[in-house]
Amino acid sequence: IPVESFDLVIFGGTGDLARRKILPALFRRFCAGQMDQQSRIIGAARSEHDSAEFRDFVAQAIGEFNTGHSYTQEELSGFVERIDYVQIDALGTDGWEELARLTSSERTRAFYFSVAPALFGALAERLHKYGLSDDATRIVVEKPFGRDEASARALNAVLAEHFEESQIYRIDHYLGKETVQNLMAVRFGNMLFEPLWNAQYVDHIQITVAETVGVGGRGEYYDKSGAMRDMVQNHLMQLLCLIAMEPPAKFDHDAVRDEKLKVIRALDIPSVEDIVRGQYAATEDGEPSYLQDVNDPASTTESFIAMKVRISNWRWAGTPIYLRTGKKLKARTSEIAVVFKETPHSIFGPESGRHRNILTIRLQPNEGMDLGVTIKEPGPGGMRLVDVPLDMTFADALGPDADDVPDAYERLIMDVIRGNQTLFMRGDEVEAAWAWADPIIEAWEKNGVKPVPYDAYSTGPEDALMLMHRDGRRWREIK
Ligand code: BG6
Repeated sequence: IPVESFDLVIFGGTGDLARRKILPALFRRFCAGQMDQQSRIIGAARSEHDSAEFRDFVAQAIGEFNTGHSYTQEELSGFVERIDYVQIDALGTDGWEELARLTSSERTRAFYFSVAPALFGALAERLHKYGLSDDATRIVVEKPFGRDEASARALNAVLAEHFEESQIYRIDHYLGKETVQNLMAVRFGNMLFEPLWNAQYVDHIQITVAETVGVGGRGEYYDKSGAMRDMVQNHLMQLLCLIAMEPPAKFDHDAVRDEKLKVIRALDIPSVEDIVRGQYAATEDGEPSYLQDVNDPASTTESFIAMKVRISNWRWAGTPIYLRTGKKLKARTSEIAVVFKETPHSIFGPESGRHRNILTIRLQPNEGMDLGVTIKEPGPGGMRLVDVPLDMTFADALGPDADDVPDAYERLIMDVIRGNQTLFMRGDEVEAAWAWADPIIEAWEKNGVKPVPYDAYSTGPEDALMLMHRDGRRWREIK
C-alpha cells in the first residue's frame, strides 16, 4: 500500500536501535516502493557528522543488519540519497533551525524519539518552538516508557503539553510481529475459535518468550530493569491482552486499545508464591554469570521470571495464564499456547490415554501456528489415539515469498506514516500496566526476595517447573 510523502526524523539517529532496527526497516520499505521521491529521512544526534558520513553509517548498518533480504547496490544508493544528518543539541539551540529547514509541513512529519526518556520533554518543546510541528505531526517513542506508574504518568504529562494523544505513537515492537497480528486474525476472523475461547473450554494459557542471549553489554540498563520491567510489563502484557481481550467492535485504534485496557485492569496481583525469579549462573566453560555481567555480586535483579496470573472477569475466571521469560535459556523461542480442556468423557476407554487440543502460536523462530488434534493412529492396531499438529508454518504458506515476512519495525513505522495507532500503546494502557507491575516489584523489594540461580542454557530454575507441576500442568518444551 503506498503511503503519503513523509519526513522522518530520527533523534538518536546514530544509536543502536537506529542501526539495528529503524534504518534497515526503512530500507526494506524503500525497496518495496513505499518511499516516494519527496520523502526524506533525517538522522539527528549530538555527534559531529556531515550527511555524507551519516550515509556511510547507514550503508554499513544495512550491510550488517539487513539479513534475509537481498538488494542491489543501486537500491542502496537510491536509499541513502534520501538521507540527511543534522547535529543537534536536544537541550540547547544548535541544529534546530537547520532541522526546520530540512523538513516541510507539506509532507507528513514524524519524529522518532530514539533517545533517553529524560530528553522527551526537551525535544517536544523544541519541536514546537522551532515550528517543526503542527496538528498532523507524529512522534514515536520507545520503551522503556517509565519505570513505574508515577514516571510513566510524568512522561505522558510532558508529551501532552505539546502533543495530542492521537499524535503519540508508543512502540511495543511485539505488536508489529507478524504472528501477533495474525493472532487477532485467527481469533476474530474465524468462527471456529471464539466460542471456545473462555474458561469453560480453555484449561490454561502459556506465554513463553525465551532468549539465548545474556545481558551482554546492556548490563547497566538491564540491571535497573530486570525481566519484569524489560519484558513482562510491556511485551508479555501485550500478548496477554491480545489473547484475552473481548472482541473489539472494529479493528481500530481506540476499539482495540479499550479492550486491552480492560484486560489489564482485570488482572489480579499474583502472590509471592505464584512468581519465580532467577539469575543465570556462569557456565563451566567460563561464560560469566548474570552477576558478573552486571558487575554487581549483590544484584537482586532477575534475568528470568515465571508467574501465574489470573484475570478476574467472566470470561477467564478459573483459567490461569502462565508467563515465562528469561535470558540465557535453552533456545530462542517465543510462543503462546492455548491449552484446551480434556474431553469430558472418553468413549475409547482409559487405555486410549489423555488428550487435549493445544493451539500454539509461534512468534519466533519458524513463525506460524499449529493446532494439535487427536486422531486415530493409522493402521490395524485398534482404536489408538495420537495427537498430531495441523501445522500452518508461514514460510510454507507463503512459499517463495517467505523472506518477505516483514520485520516488526517495518510495519510499525509505516503505520506511523499512515496515521494508524492500532498497534501502538495508548498512554492509559501503559500506566495501567505499570499500576499492575508496581506492587509486585515493591513486594520483592520490601521483603528482600532474591532470585534463584539457574544454569545458563537451561529451561530456567527448577522452581519454575514446580509452579506448573503443583497445578498438575507442565510447561511446553523450550526447543
Ligand atoms: C527488548 C528488550 O524490548 O526486546 C530486550 O529490551 C529483548 O531485552 C528484546 O532482548 C527481545 O526482542 P525480540 O524481538 O528479539 O524478541
